[in-house]
Amino acid sequence: MLELDRDLDWVVHGDNADVLPKLPDASFPLIYIDPPFNSGREQRRTSISVARDDAGDRIGFGGRRYATELGNSTAFADKFDDYLSFIAERVEQAHRLLTPQGTIYFHIDYREAHYCKILFDEIFGRECFLNEIIWAYDYGGRSKRRWPAKHDTILVYVRDPASYFFDQDAIERIPYMAPGLVGKEKAARGKLPTDVWWHTIVPTNSSERTGYATQKPEGILRRILCASSRPGDRVLDFFAGSGTTGAVAQQLGRRFVLVDDNPEAINVMRQRLAASSVAWVDAMGASLPEPEGDASADPTLFGTSQATA
Ligand SMILES: C[S@@+](CC[C@H](N)C(=O)[O-])C[C@H]1O[C@@H](n2cnc3c(N)ncnc32)[C@H](O)[C@@H]1O
Repeated sequence: MLELDRDLDWVVHGDNADVLPKLPDASFPLIYIDPPFNSGREQRRTSISVARDDAGDRIGFGGRRYATELGNSTAFADKFDDYLSFIAERVEQAHRLLTPQGTIYFHIDYREAHYCKILFDEIFGRECFLNEIIWAYDYGGRSKRRWPAKHDTILVYVRDPASYFFDQDAIERIPYMAPGLVGKEKAARGKLPTDVWWHTIVPTNSSERTGYATQKPEGILRRILCASSRPGDRVLDFFAGSGTTGAVAQQLGRRFVLVDDNPEAINVMRQRLAASSVAWVDAMGASLPEPEGDASADPTLFGTSQATA
């Protein structure tokens, strides 16, 4: 068993297949996971920084020239021989780890969503399916040979459809599309989001940007944590990546346990998460070595970045 003190937040470096069986039954009211999507290619992102340079390779506003320097590169493999078995083993553990009123959000794309839905129906029971959330965005290239795919799917399942936690009042309301049609008072209050969430990807020049490939926006996680957890609850994300779930949990007063097997993800999380309450361990529960130098001083990891794959 991994003894993870409830008064701390935890980041565990290791394969979640090794870590999850060591966590006690029914210990998380909310699990969010965003596994590799089985895109068939490596997910890589290289950060860049730019500086004024009259001989530079980029031309900016007013014809000024800038030199580009490549910074850190983060990557993880996203190709599986048997993707569904990989997911199934971990979702069975997630089912065991949820509290009786608990909820899981499973983030996936259009290529695997339908197979995963059937898998979740088998593990949780079809009656435990709560929602299919469509996260729609508008970014990147557009195919001319089919409808450009510009959404992810988030499957939501609960342990018990007769008794689960969902706090509608805690969800941030959004503007009506046609405020003129609903009256002043309603328009001022805004409306509750539906199961289609229009939300930008993490903008390139945003302070939220870590440079980690496939980083998800905090706005998406904020909505999930507000609706399906209470302040003080402990949230689990065992494909943690850049630690978006942890960052939002810290903002909203939730505790977290994050797991990732990629040392680059651990490095990014070290820089991103307010460190005071976080314990950093391996899959055996042993403390991770302190990073060499001042990790937070790396200027290339946060800020401007671009995908190279
Ligand atoms: C799509 S990314 C998650 C991105 C994250 N939601 C964010 O906002 O940054 C998937 C992550 O799963 C991790 N991963 C893949 N297989 C894993 C495994 N078996 N155990 C733990 N982590 C794994 C990868 O290293 C990668 O960081």
